[in-house]
Amino acid sequence: MSRHVISLRDLTDGDLEWIVRRGVEIAAGPADAGASLRGRIVGIYFSRTSTRTRTSFTAGALRLGAQVITYGPGDLQLNTGETAEDTARVLGGMVDGLVIRTAGPPEEMRTFAAHCGAVVNAMSADEHPTQALADLTTLSARFGRVKGLRVLYVGEGNNSAAALALALPRFGGVELELRTPPGYGLAPEVLADATALAEVSGSRVRERHDLASLPGKVDVVYTTRWQTTGSTKADPDWRRRFEPFQVDEAVMARYPGACFMHDLPAHRGEEVTAAVLDGPASIAFEQAQHKLYSAMAVLEWCLAR
Ligand code: CP
Repeated sequence: MSRHVISLRDLTDGDLEWIVRRGVEIAAGPADAGASLRGRIVGIYFSRTSTRTRTSFTAGALRLGAQVITYGPGDLQLNTGETAEDTARVLGGMVDGLVIRTAGPPEEMRTFAAHCGAVVNAMSADEHPTQALADLTTLSARFGRVKGLRVLYVGEGNNSAAALALALPRFGGVELELRTPPGYGLAPEVLADATALAEVSGSRVRERHDLASLPGKVDVVYTTRWQTTGSTKADPDWRRRFEPFQVDEAVMARYPGACFMHDLPAHRGEEVTAAVLDGPASIAFEQAQHKLYSAMAVLEWCLAR
């Protein structure tokens, strides 16, 4: 049976809940959660830089008893013109699962999925599904639930924001308010899908392109870096549009008791001030740690027999 995590749209609510619950269980227990992947071989192919995601999937696979082969940006013959299709046919016959980060669209991952038992999207141009899974695991561990949480997302409607919008509202009673710079919002199809998912589960997703009339109460303020890994902005004046969207002490002061989240890496002084990122409300590094537990849950869901 093939099990892939390429887009959160592909997962059922039950799949999402299982992965989050399992991540929380692993977080609460010993770091080596058993040997559920003993005898399995996981390929880790990152054509773009990564600190957290690559390490969490590599360490996670090893902690679960799997063996790992890693490929960096310069390793595969994709660099010399071999097609993704041919690469997928070869690797798929040799490894049990592939964890892949590229700058391409999810369709590229689906080429690999056609030939490999399990493919995990470790970030593509338009969605970062394992980031959202780690975020939900962090929220569930911190609040004891995801249902009913109120989240204010401030910043670019990038691949992390897209994944959050496609996952969070499915837990029911969630209020997700996105404030994105004009021209840098969620892709229309992502907003439409997130809104439809929210309606089904009694949640609400709303996006605006200013910081007026912010919600009165939120449990979490979330941002991401302005320059998403592997992406560029055509407008040389883009910073002017982003500057009002910095999460600073004034934003956090509106929400006493709220947590601050950031998927990292961060640029202090751009999307967030140092006082917020390193301050008492910040759970950004707890969030990064949960990437390990969530990666282990994803690998078990994809690969454990
Ligand atoms: N958040 C995240 O994906 O971090 P890396 O780019 O370091 O993997």
